[in-house]
Amino acid sequence: MSRSPHLALIMDGNGRWARQRGLPRTAGHREGAKAVREVVESAVRLGVGTLTLYAFSCDNWQRPRTEVRALMALLRRFLSEETPTCLRHGVRVQVIGHRHRLSPAVRKAIEACEEATGSGRAMTLRLAIDYSSRAQLAKAARSVVHGFPEELERALRLTNHPLDSAPPVDLLVRTSGEKRLSDFLLWECAYAELHFVDTLWPDFGEADLEEALRELGRRRRRFGRVEDAPASRDEPARVG
Ligand code: FPP
Repeated sequence: MSRSPHLALIMDGNGRWARQRGLPRTAGHREGAKAVREVVESAVRLGVGTLTLYAFSCDNWQRPRTEVRALMALLRRFLSEETPTCLRHGVRVQVIGHRHRLSPAVRKAIEACEEATGSGRAMTLRLAIDYSSRAQLAKAARSVVHGFPEELERALRLTNHPLDSAPPVDLLVRTSGEKRLSDFLLWECAYAELHFVDTLWPDFGEADLEEALRELGRRRRRFGRVEDAPASRDEPARVG
């Protein structure tokens, strides 16, 4: 049995996009949010099963306060304004990462969007907010010590969702020419194909997504086996 691919995106380059135009960094993030809207709709059209976006890392709290505030406002707006679109396209939204440091308004927007879109089956959109893969893995390790098997299970899936069953990442894309994982989905990317593109995130669109999926289709994925071994049940369908 094959499944639709899990695509993970590190959306990098908003700041450089803005600097190139003499604009404040926050203008780059605003434009980045527009690219997110386009990419989510394209991903549904192109048959992506799960799309995980790195929206805000735990380390991003160290950015200037105005930038953090602008990012949080964009996330909150995205969650409330995109809920109807997600519903229309059958997109289920889930947020992974810590929640306790987010403002009540952002938490409320997350809960409302997750609740409203919970029955979407066309694609799962996971937004990583206040997210750190190492923190999740450390949490998993701690739950072993304390003997909480269910919590361990949840932590290894790197999510707060008891019902979430995100498959492993098939393709990880990072924009802007940087080639790092930056503490993103380290466990889930164990066998992910990596694709680095020079495009700055605000310029990333449907054509780039199609090219990334074509690239996934060209990769020879062996999962540690030899070429002619039977395919795993968990292997994704080819797209694009
Ligand atoms: C990295 O670019 C980008 C981020 C830390 C934030 C990503 C946020 C968005 C794309 C917009 C809001 C998200 C959603 C889901 C609505 P950078 O600022 O580090 O760019 P630079 O490396 O060029 O400075």
